[in-house]
Amino acid sequence: MPHRPDVVLTDLRAEHRQPPLGLGTPTPRLSWTARSADGGGLAWRQTAYEVLVTPVLARPGGPEPAPSSSGRVESGESVLVAWPGAPLTSRQRVRVQVRAWSADAAEPTALSRPLELETGLLEPADWTAVPVGPDWDEDADGVARDHRPALLRREFTLPAPVVRARLHVTAHGLHEVELNGRRVGDEVLAPGWTSYRTRLRHRTHDVTALLHEGPNALGAWLADGWYRGRFGIRGGVRNLYGERTALLAQLEVDLADGRRVVVGTGPDADGGDDADGGSGTGWRAAHGPLLASNLYDGESFDARLAVPGFSTPGFDDGTWAGVRRYGRDPATLVAADGPPVRCTRELLPVAVLTSPSGATILDFGQNLTGRLRLRVRGRAGDRVVLRHAEVLQDGELCTRPLRSAAATDTYVLAGDDDPEVWEPRFTVHGFRYAEVTGWPGVLSEGDVVARVVHSDLRRTGWFACSDPRLERLHENVVWSLRSNFVDLPTDCPQRDERLGWTGDIQVFGPTAAFLYDCSGFLASWLGDVAAEQLPDGTVPWYVPRVPAGFWEPPQPGAVWGDVAVLLPAVLHERYGDTGVLRRQYDSARRWVDLVERLAGPGRLWDSGLQLGDWLDPAAPPDDPADARTDRYLVATAYFAHSARTLAAIAGVLGEDADAARYAALAQEVRDAFTAAHLRPGGRLSSDAQTAYALALVFDLLPAPERPAAGHRLAELVAEEGHRVGTGFAGVNLVADALTGTGHDETAHALLTETGCPSWLYQVAMGATTTWERWDSLLPDGTVNPGQMTSFNHYALGSVADWMHRTVAGLAPAAPGYRRLLVRPRPGAELTSASARLETPYGTAAVAWRRTGGRLLVDVDVPLGVRAVVDLPGRPATEVGAGRHHLEAPA
Ligand code: BGC
Repeated sequence: MPHRPDVVLTDLRAEHRQPPLGLGTPTPRLSWTARSADGGGLAWRQTAYEVLVTPVLARPGGPEPAPSSSGRVESGESVLVAWPGAPLTSRQRVRVQVRAWSADAAEPTALSRPLELETGLLEPADWTAVPVGPDWDEDADGVARDHRPALLRREFTLPAPVVRARLHVTAHGLHEVELNGRRVGDEVLAPGWTSYRTRLRHRTHDVTALLHEGPNALGAWLADGWYRGRFGIRGGVRNLYGERTALLAQLEVDLADGRRVVVGTGPDADGGDDADGGSGTGWRAAHGPLLASNLYDGESFDARLAVPGFSTPGFDDGTWAGVRRYGRDPATLVAADGPPVRCTRELLPVAVLTSPSGATILDFGQNLTGRLRLRVRGRAGDRVVLRHAEVLQDGELCTRPLRSAAATDTYVLAGDDDPEVWEPRFTVHGFRYAEVTGWPGVLSEGDVVARVVHSDLRRTGWFACSDPRLERLHENVVWSLRSNFVDLPTDCPQRDERLGWTGDIQVFGPTAAFLYDCSGFLASWLGDVAAEQLPDGTVPWYVPRVPAGFWEPPQPGAVWGDVAVLLPAVLHERYGDTGVLRRQYDSARRWVDLVERLAGPGRLWDSGLQLGDWLDPAAPPDDPADARTDRYLVATAYFAHSARTLAAIAGVLGEDADAARYAALAQEVRDAFTAAHLRPGGRLSSDAQTAYALALVFDLLPAPERPAAGHRLAELVAEEGHRVGTGFAGVNLVADALTGTGHDETAHALLTETGCPSWLYQVAMGATTTWERWDSLLPDGTVNPGQMTSFNHYALGSVADWMHRTVAGLAPAAPGYRRLLVRPRPGAELTSASARLETPYGTAAVAWRRTGGRLLVDVDVPLGVRAVVDLPGRPATEVGAGRHHLEAPA
């Protein structure tokens, strides 16, 4: 078929860009991006597409299977479009290609480069494996006391050469798998943390290259992790999900002779129990060199106890113990939606310090989440101890903010001739500094490296400007995201907490969705939100829940619980994902319905435990919820906002009756809010920054009152010396409230103030991540004495979303950025700013600079997208794809 040369389709992807192996759906949605070749095709506006799907067989040879075609589908959609053909079955591998038409030319594009994707185990019945774990050391009451990590192994023989092999694997606990002495994949902390009882994620690995005809061996390391390790606030709990760790692995091998061999934990697929007869699994278990491992406390490893070759065939496991099988409903096994946790970067120390007490402290120059890798040579039994902390006080490691988390790793040397290389396996720490004791000999450059560990999301958004302090603030926001997106969105990475606090990500979601592609990561976590929601609709304060933990049982609280409505809406706005709205719809509705019941006919939510404007800087350090803005004002404002957002979601989903119902509810709540909280002259019952921010951004005031309310907010900010006066409930809104009412300079002054509390105070104090408290470090340089002081929390960094949208001027105006709003409203002091974003439709960018009294703006608009450009002092205009240069008075 002749094709147009000026537009190419690129970046064909399935679902949320999962590794296209082991997809968990028979109907993966597809997305692609149209790009201009040599600057052509700017009038591109997709009108139709065709998808070709070709089976890929495990064994080469024979005739190439014919593709099946979707036929020409008349549609402008290119993001998350429905799977075009027959649903796939388990383990099916296909090659997908797409071409598309636009109204401006008769010919379609050429076919895109192929995407190969493969489904995993889609049906519960596909799982023949069951979890197995060590069978030892049980007390009389049946409770396992032994939390020491274990090794598992088994051997198997493959009777013919291997053509394709897949390992489907997960665990009760954390696992690392080896085949024939080689590690499978590079995932860290697998399988991550979900609401294990209802959703346990697994991944599929291509292990073809690790196997061969003849004897093979599979080995695994197994540790407590979230499953049964000490976890939770105030000491935490053990055995949260069970008393025993276990591995669940199903290895499926296609052989050259046409047979498929399945080797799993538990009985083999052919029904024949083998090897040890007793448990019928062939699996054996032993302790290895890992003496202890815990996410909070760290890891202890004695290299003298190493078990070389345990995952290779022929290893003598005669002294090893048997294993025991455990139950697991395979219907609770789900394929992962987001990328795995991995090491994404290594940092060398920027300084080696000697503390006043004589300790050796490494400074990595950056607060981060990860762990250290050592390269050490010494005598057998030499013991190296690593302690981690985010800050120093009086030149010593300051571990008080870690509370009960020991964050200590210990390595005992085997005493090899060669240098020993070691890194903890099943723990991570939040730190910038590490104290090293017991190092044999002289510590030289490169001996200790910090390995940065987090969910390996794709970076999508960048920001730059002429003020290096703001760039550092932005960089700190990025680092706090990286530090806290460790399989789930957590509050902090260092102390005995690290929980999926719902309010924090509710506030930070839009910022995150710009900086990284978090679509699969957050959609997965929202699955846990829905799973953990109480029958009455209550959203737990943190997800997954830690029953018997802190603040249990959960009570409904605004800002936090609203994540059930507002985060799906963010994923739709930023990624064009309607599917996540559908999946979360019931959860979102249950939340708003609950609040409606709690508020009653008066429509004011003025009861119950509310954290309100948590960490208002004026709140007493020991009562962060005692904010200047009344907590029930916050609750009602959020009620109105969530009801309105839910109405919009219902509209997108075609649930028209719900859309009308929730829109009417939102209006009633808005009226109630006004009646209860609006005072003459645009004043609010709480004369505080957050109250005005909520009322203005959530559009809760009658239009004629907005200017006066905006004016009062600007006045308040100025009266407070342009210092921030909000906690979590207003921090993401206050700058928007100012620019939304024409107070651009006040917003800029607020952003660039350096006195405490302010965003740049943290920067001025040397922060490299955003802090939990405005004054986590006090002006005198000492660490805030509160028992809750983290230096790595993202909520207060949520102003970055406003920086992207309003300082640089790049905002979404339609789901998935199919339409852009370019509306920079920079403060007069800035001379340039820019933002770039990989949208689902391609690269969008805005870059402006001020020279000679003019504002010069360059805008890049992806193909198929239009942008409204609204510059100060000029009427708004609309532009199509391509690069545009515009000017306005500066
Ligand atoms: C967490 C938070 C959370 C808050 C709510 C803290 O301990 O770190 O960020 O939102 O509690 O109470």
